[in-house]
Amino acid sequence: MTVHIGAKPGQIAETVLMPGDPYRAKWAAETFLENAECVNEVRGMLGFTGTWNGHPVTIQGSGMGMPSLSIYANELIRDYGARTLVRIGSCGGMQDAVKVRDVILAMTSSTLSTPSRGIFRELNFAPCADWGLLSAAHAAAQDLGVPTHVGGIYSSDVFYDERPDLNEQMERHGILGVEMEAAELYILAARHKVRALAVLTVSDHLKTGEALPAQDRERSFGDMVEIALRAAFA
Ligand code: HPA
Repeated sequence: MTVHIGAKPGQIAETVLMPGDPYRAKWAAETFLENAECVNEVRGMLGFTGTWNGHPVTIQGSGMGMPSLSIYANELIRDYGARTLVRIGSCGGMQDAVKVRDVILAMTSSTLSTPSRGIFRELNFAPCADWGLLSAAHAAAQDLGVPTHVGGIYSSDVFYDERPDLNEQMERHGILGVEMEAAELYILAARHKVRALAVLTVSDHLKTGEALPAQDRERSFGDMVEIALRAAFA
């Protein structure tokens, strides 16, 4: 047990999928895992452990934003021995070529600030994905026929952004999408020498205003979970 996770030692797998939404963790565990068992309910941040094709997997909610993700990822890595962490989440599309429902594999994540900023101070550290996971996720997406983009994303601290000019600069520099967690996950993975990747479904588009209808969400999020699982065990 840690401060924020109630699982007993041994109840967390080395491979952890991390959606922001705890109810999506429940849905993904019920849909994709065998013998899924709830291993965390502290603060309602649900976590489940089961197996996928015989491999132990935990699906643990991270909450929204880097401070929240940082708490769960730190405890999963440092206290429970997690070694592969794949964020499965939604993002806002930023390029014309990126469509709602597409998947983005985040090769890097730019950010203004993360909980790790105090370590780097004036250095602009470049948070990047694990190459093995990234290339395996790309192969899985190709195999499944899911429209997929690989490149840089932006991890913002704000959903209701009062600085739209920054989004314009991100778009101008080829950033594919915006979410709120990946940069800190990549930094923690680098620090603790574990593997990390963010597999993101485009749920809305900042330029067109298009948003994924509620009934389409499950199917699209399912593609992302399948890609994440195949990549983790490739
Ligand atoms: N901004 C930040 N995070 C997001 C967005 C967004 O537009 N869409 C999905 N996650």
